[in-house]
Amino acid sequence: MELNERILHYLDKCNEVDTLKLANEFHEDHQKIVGAVKSLEALEMVTSEAVKNTRWELTEEGQLVSDKGSHEAVLYRSVPEAGIPQAELMKTVPNAKVGFSKAMSSGWILIDKSAAPPLVKRKVDSIVDTVQEHLNEIKKGIDNLADNVRNDYKKRKLLQEVTVKSFILSKGPQFSTTIKKLETDLTSEMLQTGSWKTLEFKPYNFDALGQPPECGHLHPLLKVRSEFREIFLEMGFTEMPTNMYVESSFWNFDALFQPQQHPARDAHDTFFMSSPASSEHFPMDYLERVKKVHSEGGYGSQGYKYDWKIEEAKKNLLRTHTTAVSARMLYKLAQGEFRPQKYFSIDKVFRNETLDATHLAEFHQVEGVIAARGVGLADLIGVLDAFFSRLGFHKLQFKPAYNPYTEPSMEIFAYHTGLGKWIEIGNSGVFRPEMLLPMGLPADVNVIAWGLSLERPTMIKYGLNNIRDLVGPKVDLQMVQNNPICRLDK
Ligand code: PHE
Repeated sequence: MELNERILHYLDKCNEVDTLKLANEFHEDHQKIVGAVKSLEALEMVTSEAVKNTRWELTEEGQLVSDKGSHEAVLYRSVPEAGIPQAELMKTVPNAKVGFSKAMSSGWILIDKSAAPPLVKRKVDSIVDTVQEHLNEIKKGIDNLADNVRNDYKKRKLLQEVTVKSFILSKGPQFSTTIKKLETDLTSEMLQTGSWKTLEFKPYNFDALGQPPECGHLHPLLKVRSEFREIFLEMGFTEMPTNMYVESSFWNFDALFQPQQHPARDAHDTFFMSSPASSEHFPMDYLERVKKVHSEGGYGSQGYKYDWKIEEAKKNLLRTHTTAVSARMLYKLAQGEFRPQKYFSIDKVFRNETLDATHLAEFHQVEGVIAARGVGLADLIGVLDAFFSRLGFHKLQFKPAYNPYTEPSMEIFAYHTGLGKWIEIGNSGVFRPEMLLPMGLPADVNVIAWGLSLERPTMIKYGLNNIRDLVGPKVDLQMVQNNPICRLDK
């Protein structure tokens, strides 16, 4: 018979029983009985009431006494007929000290001082080891001890009081001695045959603990983004509004003195929008100055000398760099009285790239811009040094580069100690007068700027070598969940 059925049969005869008693009678572990009771309770076959019982139990030492005899009895038995010097006796048994004093006070042994050295001898012919008898009874669950005796055993650390939680069982409203098998699932078959009408279903256990809710996890890109943001904010930069993925070619390219025939403006490199295909509103006087500097030159520049077309500038695209946002911000800055500014942005850009392990068609750009009177290349190198060392890159190298909108331009390389080599981490430069002067910025104001991707440092920091492990459908969510809340790798 199953345990829960045995409980029901037992209850059928006696109406009420304590689970501790059941455990004793069935020779079962009490916890197992409680488990069975809980499931019977869910079926309303029994009801239970929790009670706390205190009970006396043998300590480890008490267990020893119950097995081998009290310390005094053990000592008594090791005293030979002829007697034994006390010092020698003390070496023969464990717990001899307690045993000796107890045996003395019980009048079981004596010290014969007439011998030299004095001898310990038995005083009585036989003893009754009541301590052992008492403990054996307690072990059997019989407790008829007088309080002072029990307390004495407690003081001698032979007994200890324990509290046990148990349950008083009685018959529940659905009591019976057999357990019906209740349905746990409503199946489509039950619905089709209509059997659900007569079947009995197991009631829901609304007290059961549900699945612990999982907390959210930040993607590594978000963590590194907030590190970048913090660095910029600590350095006194203001964040630019980057909430425009769709830009006109004008702000993305023309404002940046990027000629209209530049290969980057080709559909092979840029995603153009089909709807809405073009933008209509531009600050027209500024647009005229941009057109002029491209086609005829000005501000000491000869320009590109080509036929600049507004149709080309109107074309909408997914912005290819956040420098489009910087251009808007600098134009805006030029419209009021000039004040030095430090701007930054971190957001998405899009490029018509062939996808591979290190390139995606969309990624994040981190960009810093400083506009102030008299700043130059030395300031740019200094600020890049401060910026990247906060990120944990302490060795930088710069390589001359080309951007249509900066002169001079520098690629930024950092020595990666983990990889043991120099890697390219960004691009930078001093914005050209052909870009800044048409905006209306004062002639003595220079703007230094740099940009990098968010993905590359994240891959380095998280030891990923395929960008598709970081972004896209192949991202392992476990990776996101498992990566630590913070890294101490700076
Ligand atoms: N726009 C550049 C890029 O996309 C980065 C850059 C920003 C370079 C500012 C110079 C100045 O790589």
